[in-house]
Amino acid sequence: MKRIVVLISGSGTNMQAIIDACQAGKVAGNVVAVISNKAGVGGLEKAANAGVATAVLSHQDFATREAYDLELKQLVDSYQPDLVVLAGFMRILTADFTRHYHGRMLNIHPSLLPKYKGINTHQRALDAGDSEHGVSVHFVTEELDGGPVILQATVPVFAGDTAADLQARVHTQEHAIYPLVVQWFCADRLRLTNQGAELDGQLLGAAGYADD
Ligand code: GAR
Repeated sequence: MKRIVVLISGSGTNMQAIIDACQAGKVAGNVVAVISNKAGVGGLEKAANAGVATAVLSHQDFATREAYDLELKQLVDSYQPDLVVLAGFMRILTADFTRHYHGRMLNIHPSLLPKYKGINTHQRALDAGDSEHGVSVHFVTEELDGGPVILQATVPVFAGDTAADLQARVHTQEHAIYPLVVQWFCADRLRLTNQGAELDGQLLGAAGYADD
């Protein structure tokens, strides 16, 4: 069983979906800890209710990004993870941190990457008049929201949609695809190579796709 550490900053609904999949036996792994950079967020309570260890490491207690990431790395490593899952962890990570977890850290980003890296993705999709929007799960590399994409899900944009409408529609898809990608990783089906992300030895394109 793979050891999974999940990093959050907020409500933790993706974290919950992953814990649920693990506890239902759908994933060959266990979430051994949930770490938040913010105290009092909903995800910490959800994790505790699921019987998962929690920790808070506040970025406000550190003078620099480097100092925070160094401490975070030590905390994460104390749980000896095989996989680190960023689930709404709203921090830009240092190159040292991302390199340390190269090939074993995933992120979910609420856009069809490479579109809309960064924040406010739903509003940006609306402002651009896009007819489709979505979500991407990718390996984390040094480039912000720029690592190889593993799997995407698309949602329609309807006339009159608000950013909140889009966020809700995207969230539903997130909860389906993130546990699936974690499942692939834990089953040793997914890996990061110099060419990109591979599933079952096949290179995934910009929009990785598989039907199971
Ligand atoms: C999710 O929509 C995720 O895609 C997004 O934060 C939300 C967390 O929701 N992540 C990013 O924007 C990362 N740049 P959750 O706490 O309910 O899982």
